[in-house]
Amino acid sequence: MNNVIEMKHPLIQHKISRLRDKNTGTAEFRALVEEIAMLMGYEALKDLPLEDVEVETPIEKCMTPQIAGKNFAIVPILRAGLGMVSGLQALVPTAKIGHIGLYRDEETHEPHEYYCKLPSPISERLIVITDPMLATGGSAVAAVDFIKQHGGKKIKFMAIIAAPEGVERLMEAHPDIQLYVGHIDRELNKDAYICPGLGDAGDRIFGTK
Ligand code: PRP
Ligand code: URA
Repeated sequence: MNNVIEMKHPLIQHKISRLRDKNTGTAEFRALVEEIAMLMGYEALKDLPLEDVEVETPIEKCMTPQIAGKNFAIVPILRAGLGMVSGLQALVPTAKIGHIGLYRDEETHEPHEYYCKLPSPISERLIVITDPMLATGGSAVAAVDFIKQHGGKKIKFMAIIAAPEGVERLMEAHPDIQLYVGHIDRELNKDAYICPGLGDAGDRIFGTK
């Protein structure tokens, strides 16, 4: 699938291995999620639009590129996606941030929306949706659906670990988006957890159970 970009960088792979370890504590886990998001952002934002501005160096005036205004938004899926925001914000501090609140029903594994607030105008922005886990793909498909309903057009999805089933479901529903993923794991188990995965990302980021 052309629009699925799996990260091969050794720094990302190393940090994902640290995330997987059940003995990695909350503080390290949170820091790793932020660092991985930043490293993935370097790749995912490589087509961010630029505009030339005049700058005066100590030597002379020149025209030089800067990131064009009102062009980028980060949209975390609550709550685990929040853990990736600071990594991307460190790269683009002026980014606007929307939020989509979704939780997965523990029995049916289907997503339920409880919050949605997006920056406007959404139609002109490159939108990067963040969620560390792409499992069945239900939450990801619902998030892209919401953003498209609100007028979003240029959408990228960033996940740290994905199941093959989720990648297929997301790209079948939304073949026009680009998916950046740190690693595609083996499969989902009967409870729709990713194997080998890293467990429950939200609980590990926020130290809940
Ligand atoms: C997790 C994860 C994704 C979703 C992935 O969130 O962060 O949003 O599950 O599963 P799916 O691909 O099968 O939809 P969860 O519902 O556990 O909520 P949380 O972020 O509040 O922990
Ligand atoms: N959500 C998680 O946090 N982990 C999984 O493995 C699947 C969904």
